[in-house]
This record gives sequence, structure tokens and C-alpha cells, in this order.
Amino acid sequence: MRVCIVGASGKLGRYMVQHALDRGYEVVGVCRERSVGKLDAFKGRITVVPGFTNDRAVIKQAVAGCDGVLTVLVPWGSNHYASGTAQAVLDCAPLGARLIFSCGWHITRDGKDVWPRSLKREEKLARWLGRLTRIVDIDDQVEACRRVFASDARWTVVRGSDLEEGESQGLPVWSRHVGDPILESNITRRVDYALFMVAALENDELVHEAPAIVGCVTRSALAAKTGG
Ligand SMILES: NC(=O)c1ccc[n+]([C@@H]2O[C@H](COP(=O)([O-])OP(=O)(O)OC[C@H]3O[C@@H](n4cnc5c(N)ncnc54)[C@H](OP(=O)(O)O)[C@@H]3O)[C@@H](O)[C@H]2O)c1
Repeated sequence: MRVCIVGASGKLGRYMVQHALDRGYEVVGVCRERSVGKLDAFKGRITVVPGFTNDRAVIKQAVAGCDGVLTVLVPWGSNHYASGTAQAVLDCAPLGARLIFSCGWHITRDGKDVWPRSLKREEKLARWLGRLTRIVDIDDQVEACRRVFASDARWTVVRGSDLEEGESQGLPVWSRHVGDPILESNITRRVDYALFMVAALENDELVHEAPAIVGCVTRSALAAKTGG
């Protein structure tokens, strides 16, 4: 299995690189030129293609011959970075490749999510700050996911809860809709978010799904398991 990790130098990206290597996959990582050093720990074990992730030429080179592409969609900047990245991956990935994208709970596929008030407040604040500073563009991440949802490719969009650092607790559990009691704890270890992304490559049940995830030993996940 040869996989490309787009956004490999970030925290989520580096965890995904490690999980992919642990599974014996051949790994190609894409990251901004100035971030290549963040992948030094993997030197000699992965191929790094430096460049902006919304640069089609960079993506075309990186995804060639890949069976799967793991893409970190981030709402940074004001130049349509997330939608440009998603489009480049959708256009350039080999036919039939598994495409896994990351985003947050604020993304909805079918409008049936019920968000906690805290999340609505955070999103409102991020939109306001984004308009003011142009550092973040939430709507562009929404547009990126809209394009993925509309595509015929074999995609999965993994919607992350709030994240924390720490040792792995195991594969997160998921639901189709935010607001489902199983997700109430709203916390996942970042290392396990990465685990879910990488495991999705070989889980065909997740094709054309947008799972919202939560840590498997959180209170709400355990309560759902025991029927409590
Ligand atoms: N943080 C959370 O609480 C949270 C919650 C739910 C879901 N998520 C989702 O999880 C994924 C990873 O998020 P994360 O917060 O954990 O961050 P992360 O893994 O550290 O990744 C941040 C990524 O953004 C890139 N980046 C940073 N500044 C940039 C800029 N100005 N222009 C272009 N790229 C830039 C980084 O590249 P460099 O290495 O080159 O800087 C890196 O690839 C995202 O899809 C996010 O929506 C996050």
C-alpha cells in the first residue's frame, strides 16, 4: 500500500505518518517547504514532496501511484487554501484511490447535525476573527468539504471533536450526526484521530460517510456501549 499524506508536517499529519509506517505502508508526505524539517524524525523512511498543498503540480507528483491519500484540510489563510487543496487531491488522485479528509464537527453533510452551544459560539467567533484578520477562513473549509461530498471518488470525511494530546486509547467511535449522545463527551486524542484516518483507508464501510468521532473511552462512548 502506497499512501500520500497531504499536510504531513502538522501534528495530525505526523501521527498519521507514524501509523502508516507502523502498518508497513510506503509513505509520501506533502508539506510547505519551510516545514520540511518537522519531518526529520522520519528521514530515510518517507518521501517528502515540498510545496503548498493547493498546488496541483505538487499534488500530482505526490499522489502518483498511491492507493490512498490522507488530507489535512485546514482553514488557514484567505487564499482558498482548503478548497484548493481538496480540489487538487480530487483532480489528481489515481482513479479508485481511497481519499480521507480531516475537518471538524462544524462541517455538516446533510444538515441534520445538532451542535453544542459552545461549538456554535466558537464557530461564530472564528468567522468574525477570520473576516477581521484574514488568518482563518472557515467558509473555505466548508466549501472544500462541499466539493468532496459532491465527488464520485471513494472519499471519507472524518469530522474531529475537540482534540487533546496523550497516549493512544484506541480507535475512536463515530456517529453520522453531531448531537448523537455517543459523541457528547466531545474529546478525542489527536493520536487516535490520526489512527481513525489511517484505518479508514482499509474500511470500505466508511466510503461516502462523514463520521463524527469521539474517543472510545470517553464517558459518552462508554455509556453508549453499556446502554447507559
Ligand atoms: N485543533 C482542534 O481542536 C481540531 C478539532 C477538530 C478537528 N480538527 C481538524 O484536525 C485537523 C488538524 O488540525 P490541528 O489543529 O490538529 O492542526 P495540525 O495537525 O497541527 O495541522 C495544521 C496544518 O496546517 C498547516 N498550516 C498552518 N498554518 C498554515 C498557513 N498559514 N497556511 C497553510 N497551512 C498552514 C500546517 O502546515 P505546516 O506544518 O507547514 O505549518 C499543518 O499541515 C484539521 O483538519 C482540523 O480541521 C482540529
